[in-house]
Amino acid sequence: MKQRSLHIKTFGCQMNERDSEIIEQLLFPLGFIPVADMQTADLVILNTCSVRAKAEQKVYSLLGQIRQYKSRNPGMLVAVAGCVAQQEKERIMQRMPHVNMVIGTRQIYKIPAMITRIDAGQTNLKPEVDLDDTMQVQPFLQVGRNGSQSSPSPAPGEYKKFVTIMQGCNNFCSYCVVPLTRGREVSRPVADILDEVRLLVEQGVKEITLLGQNVNSYGLTNPVADDPVNFAALLRLVSATPGLNRLRFTTSNPKDLSDDLMRCFAELENLCPQFHLPVQSGSNRILSLMNRKYTVEEYLQKVEALRRYRPDIALGTDMIIGFPGETEEDFAATMRLLETVRFHGSFSFKYSDRPGTRAASLGNPVNEEVKSERLSRFQDRQDEISLARNREYLDHILEVIVEGKGKKGLWQGRSSTNHIVHFSPVRSQEPHRGDAVMVRIDKAGQHSLAGTHIQEGDES
Ligand code: 5AD
Ligand code: SF4
Repeated sequence: MKQRSLHIKTFGCQMNERDSEIIEQLLFPLGFIPVADMQTADLVILNTCSVRAKAEQKVYSLLGQIRQYKSRNPGMLVAVAGCVAQQEKERIMQRMPHVNMVIGTRQIYKIPAMITRIDAGQTNLKPEVDLDDTMQVQPFLQVGRNGSQSSPSPAPGEYKKFVTIMQGCNNFCSYCVVPLTRGREVSRPVADILDEVRLLVEQGVKEITLLGQNVNSYGLTNPVADDPVNFAALLRLVSATPGLNRLRFTTSNPKDLSDDLMRCFAELENLCPQFHLPVQSGSNRILSLMNRKYTVEEYLQKVEALRRYRPDIALGTDMIIGFPGETEEDFAATMRLLETVRFHGSFSFKYSDRPGTRAASLGNPVNEEVKSERLSRFQDRQDEISLARNREYLDHILEVIVEGKGKKGLWQGRSSTNHIVHFSPVRSQEPHRGDAVMVRIDKAGQHSLAGTHIQEGDES
């Protein structure tokens, strides 16, 4: 079979990262080999994000650039997948006629058939953007059980993998485009998830992150027949996979975070002490306008319970600054929440109007300069808190899984709290990717930790 080169550029969330990997796996049997250079690739796929206007603008500006690459490389095929494809549909091809394929969030399995049609001479393929809510999530092809359907095993040292457990979202937070781009919630059958995790671990993967837009409601809205397993139960089942060292999950909506699930942090040894729990605002008035269905007080109770169950848990969050109608008083409440929780880290964004969402018709926008000023105030304070939090790890010995060589002869890996840790190896012992090593922390920055690899027996 003729080999061809494939370049996938992924925007946005981990959901998209995993989808890009699935696309790669689907295209492998057709002879497509991933390459780093976009300009000379035979097939370029942009897997896009539309969560904020900026992400969407980036896609259009890159498509403009790709038009030039294509004029020098006329055989190039160009595809747009992901959330922008889902929202924009045929508008993409109208604006950018050099785009050959538009593939919605639930149609990535059609890509091989689309390529085959193009190879057979068909032009003008219709966008594949059906968002069939009843469609079951496909049993994914992480690894080739029969050798024909997928790319080979994880690369040596590729110790962590994502496993998608559900698609879509039923929450309709008023600012969010995801229910429109990813459709209603559909949970994958438990057996498929457990199979995938087991196969990955057998192939040497040590860390699994379970993925979904709102994993806490796994199995609730779309119980798979005879499968009354909720997320806490799923977590316990996955956790019991022999050989699985680290388990994480994302993303969670605080309103669906049950006590049963929080208790898993106390019970499951391989569930990492790290939790991303997006709060979005510290003002009850704004939370209600956002349709988040919890109050600041309820959020704080959950933070307290999590810390009770797992005192070393590292908490992170997402925050939207400048939601329509946000007053200085509302923003002060957000800053107060930051002081109360002292998150280890956070992602914060200026509110961005998304077409089709309820917030887009609220009116009362916050002036851009005010948004920017509030965002920097928030981020500056978060940076100080992150640094102080990271200093708490000084002199601690952390287990780090090695990711590779970093700068200045140091090695780099991740702690179970998901901190990036730089370390110097001892006694000229070369660590390998995927190894678990113990590191004594002697430096703390805002975004990473640094220390020295210690050997067994050195710990005293
Ligand atoms: N504007 C700004 N940020 C948004 N997010 C989602 N929608 C918007 C929007 N319209 C943020 C939320 C979410 C993260 C993935 O992106 O904080 O948790
Ligand atoms: Fe972006 Fe949300 Fe789509 Fe992920 S699901 S790609 S964050 S819009």
